[in-house]
Amino acid sequence: MIKIDRELIETLRKSESIVFFTGAGVSAESGIPTFRGKDGIWNKLKPEEVANFDAFIKNPEMVWEWYNHRKKIIQESRPNQAHLSIAELQNYFSDVAVVTQNIDNLHKRAGSEKIFELHGNIERNFCIQCKKFFNEELDFSNGIPKCDCGGLIRPDVVWFGEYLPEEQFKGGEKAAMNSDLFFVVGTSAVVYPAAELIYTAKFSGATIVEINIEETEISSMAKYSYFGKAGDILMEILGEFKLSKNL
Ligand code: OAD
Repeated sequence: MIKIDRELIETLRKSESIVFFTGAGVSAESGIPTFRGKDGIWNKLKPEEVANFDAFIKNPEMVWEWYNHRKKIIQESRPNQAHLSIAELQNYFSDVAVVTQNIDNLHKRAGSEKIFELHGNIERNFCIQCKKFFNEELDFSNGIPKCDCGGLIRPDVVWFGEYLPEEQFKGGEKAAMNSDLFFVVGTSAVVYPAAELIYTAKFSGATIVEINIEETEISSMAKYSYFGKAGDILMEILGEFKLSKNL
């Protein structure tokens, strides 16, 4: 069991705006592979082979096969204690935002309401030509699905070299600027511009808390660091907080 600082619980109690900035590690306990590290996806595949627009144009079948494979893993997974603890905090605070790099929709499935998705969402798709959205299950029985306009349909995820969805990034930035407490959970914090938001929060005066199984690039910026599984640590923080309020 990890010991949570009493001072952190006091800071949490006094906080009005709390942000959880999350990465693949928050979903690791749901059985979804992370990108970097020992069993990371990018050890087995080159990002430019699957997460890139040119690759999609060259070989949409291969790219779709890869995303359908990931989608299946995600659909068969469930939110874990990390997602659920974050969502539960909404019962006690009026402003809890999740700013996530994940495309797996697990924060929403756990019940979080204010979510900024920096890298898209695998459950949505859009036409590369007219940009129409397709949120229903796509039919692959006649090959790669196409829009009425003839354009290929692609997953609504951010690929290498693409801009982040502006509204989502701006929303995340605003949340970071206004946050009192900024949790950085399960991310290697090496992918920009997403990781920039940790600096935005820090320079706007937020207290940074890092939760990860190991040290990262931003560990020195955190006032509190907890090394272990996100689910265990967030459950512990939530438990200590509730205890402190006799809940
Ligand atoms: P990474 O795979 O880079 O990092 C995952 C982090 O989670 C690492 O720091 C691990 O130590 C940590 N971790 C693993 N298991 C954990 C657990 N059970 N509890 C807590 N921490 C754990 O994933 P991201 O930082 O999310 O972008 O990667 C950022 C972006 O790089 C992704 O959104 C994706 C990728 O390329 C795009 O696809 C655009």
